[in-house]
Parts: sequence; structure tokens; C-alpha cells
Amino acid sequence: MLMSSPDPPLPLPQLSLRRSVLSTPLEIGSFAVNSRVLQSPLSGVTDLVFRRLVRRYAPDSMLYTEMVHASQVCRARKLAKVMDVAPGEQPISVQLFDCRPHFLAEAAQMAVAEGANTIDLNMGCPVNKITKKGGGSSLLRDPDTAVAIVKAVVAAVKVPVTVKTRIGWNDDEINILDFAIRMQDAGIQMITIHARTRAQGYHGLARWQWIRRVKNQLSIPVIANGDIVSIESAIACLEITDADGVMCSRGTLGYPYLVGEIDHFLKTGQRRPLPTIVERLQSAREHLQGLWHYKGIKGIHQARKHMTWYVKGFTGAAELRDKLCQINTVEEGTALLDRTICHLSTKPKSYNKKPRE
Ligand SMILES: Cc1cc2nc3c(=O)[nH]c(=O)nc-3n(C[C@H](O)[C@H](O)[C@H](O)COP(=O)(O)O)c2cc1C
Repeated sequence: MLMSSPDPPLPLPQLSLRRSVLSTPLEIGSFAVNSRVLQSPLSGVTDLVFRRLVRRYAPDSMLYTEMVHASQVCRARKLAKVMDVAPGEQPISVQLFDCRPHFLAEAAQMAVAEGANTIDLNMGCPVNKITKKGGGSSLLRDPDTAVAIVKAVVAAVKVPVTVKTRIGWNDDEINILDFAIRMQDAGIQMITIHARTRAQGYHGLARWQWIRRVKNQLSIPVIANGDIVSIESAIACLEITDADGVMCSRGTLGYPYLVGEIDHFLKTGQRRPLPTIVERLQSAREHLQGLWHYKGIKGIHQARKHMTWYVKGFTGAAELRDKLCQINTVEEGTALLDRTICHLSTKPKSYNKKPRE
């Protein structure tokens, strides 16, 4: 049933961070993860190369692959590159999208064979091409199919099955309360809620207060997503939502340290030193080289956008970004970065501001 309701009032954050709870493992059905901070699936970003960087700073956290088109991999009868899981990469979740239960079930089995610890079902993607075919966030409008999908995948694999979704299709159709209960009843072991409607896309503030309402009525873990860009925003979100954990997304673009920074703070109450600009550029260099080795020229083209996310916060950054946007070889990019690293290393250390505050 679709509901049209105004946003509930935003409660004031309390000072009592539930650190004693939040430093315990996150139990996703039978699978325990020793971190309450997760790296979201990001199409075109969270490949094996990016995840290797995130993992270095967040060794315990659950990381997600990019979303995988289930029927495409089933028809091709082989794993897609986006499903690659490196040996020892766990804890890792493979995210699938589609609207056909049998394809999702089969693709889930392939993902488990590849090493997935959980299977995540995408029910939040706003992209027209996907929603028109009945996938992503359009499943919020078709809960019967969403239930059929969950049941088919749960029956097909032994690992826990989870869902990532939004609060509703638009402001007139915020149905996450009913939807989440139906997903739990169908057998999912965790739900992640991106606290925007499909109509919002990626704009406007995430409406965390809806997550609290969902949390109040579910027994499975609820993960909050949307606008987690710093330790401060993670704490505010955890206080407001009472969620079991947070998932970082755009805050990690060009900043693979974020998941680890928040995780470390939740576990210890201490802040890790911020990376210096030189350290960020060194990460950019490693990212570029990794993409080259893993994907060849396609990796260089993908690296251009990553470079623009890393290269910020110092004199000459804009000029360097422009040049990095046009690189055609790994050598070109490495030389540009090395020159700047060398130049900045002779100056007093400067620290980057956190990405989005
Ligand atoms: C470039 C990009 C790619 C994304 N790809 C996926 C995806 O493959 N699967 C998914 O569930 N969400 C995807 N998302 C949504 C994010 O995981 C996240 O829900 C959203 O960005 C809200 O969090 P934020 O406000 O912290 O960015 C993507 C978002 C962006 C910006």
C-alpha cells in the first residue's frame, strides 16, 4: 500500500553515542562483520582496485561490488568483470540488479561461488534505463515482485541476502515502512536505506528521520545511507536514526580513507590523523596504476574522473585536474602526479579538508 505522509519531525541529536553497541560486530544473519561502517556499491567506482585502497584503511568493513546485471551474466554464462572478487577480499557483498527472480537466483549462486559473503539486491537505483524495465527503485512500486525476488534468492543461496533501497518513489509515495517489513518477512537479513526518494535522485538532504521509523519496527539490522561524509555526519546519523551502522558513498570519491576513519572512531573514540595532500596524491597514483593494470586503456579513461576527485585543496590543483582529465597513458598521469608530489614534498605538510562538509 502506498502512503503519502509528511516527513516526521527531526529529533535533536543526543550526546550519548551508543559506542558500546556500535563497537560490537554487525550480525547479518549468520555472518558477523567486525565493523558498523560499510562502503556502498558505486557503479563505475567500487571495482577491485578502489576496494583494495578502501580495505587498507578499513580491513574489517563490508565492501560492495558495483551493481551487477543479473540476467546479463546469466545469459553470458560467465562472470562479469564487475563481479570479480580478489582472493582474501572478504568481507564482501556482491550487489545484483534485475526484476526477474530466476535470473537473480542464478546470478546469486555465481556470486557466492566467486566468494560473496552476502548477496545484496538493488532496489534503489533511480536510472530510467533500469526502472523502466522494472528494476532498481521501481521495485518500491511493485512490492509483490520484490518479495518474489527475495524469496527466490534466499532459496538459492546459503549466504545472507540483503536489500538496499530508498524511502519511496517520490514525496507522494513514501512507502518504506511497509516495504521494509515485507522484505524482512520475505527473508532478508539486513536492509540499507538511502534516505532519499527516487525523485530526489542524489539531490537535497537525506531524510534520516525515516530510517529511525523503519528501525523502530524491524528486528533485522538497518543501515543508514545518504550524506555520510565525515565522522561528525556519521555520529549525527547514528544518533538520529538509531541505525545499526552507516554506509558511506559519495564521501569516499577520491577519499578512500573515510570508511576506515569512521570505523576507527567508533571503535576507539580516537580520530586518525587526516591524510596529507601528498598522501592523497600518492593514493591517486596507486589508483591510476591499479586501474591501468586491471583494465588497460579503459582503466585510464575511468581513472580521469577519479583523479579529479583526488586532486583538490592546494594551489595549482585546478590546473593539474585539467591535465589529468586528458591523459591517455599511465606514464602521462604518473609523471604529472610525481611532479606535484615532488614539488609539495619540499613544502610544509598541508592537510586536506574532509571531502564534503
Ligand atoms: C556514481 C554513483 C554510482 C552509484 N552506484 C550504485 C550502485 O551500483 N548500487 C547502489 O545500490 N547504489 C549506487 N549508488 C548510490 C549510492 O550507493 C548511495 O546510495 C547514494 O549515493 C547516497 O549516499 P551519499 O549521499 O552518501 O552519496 C551510486 C551513487 C553514485 C553517486
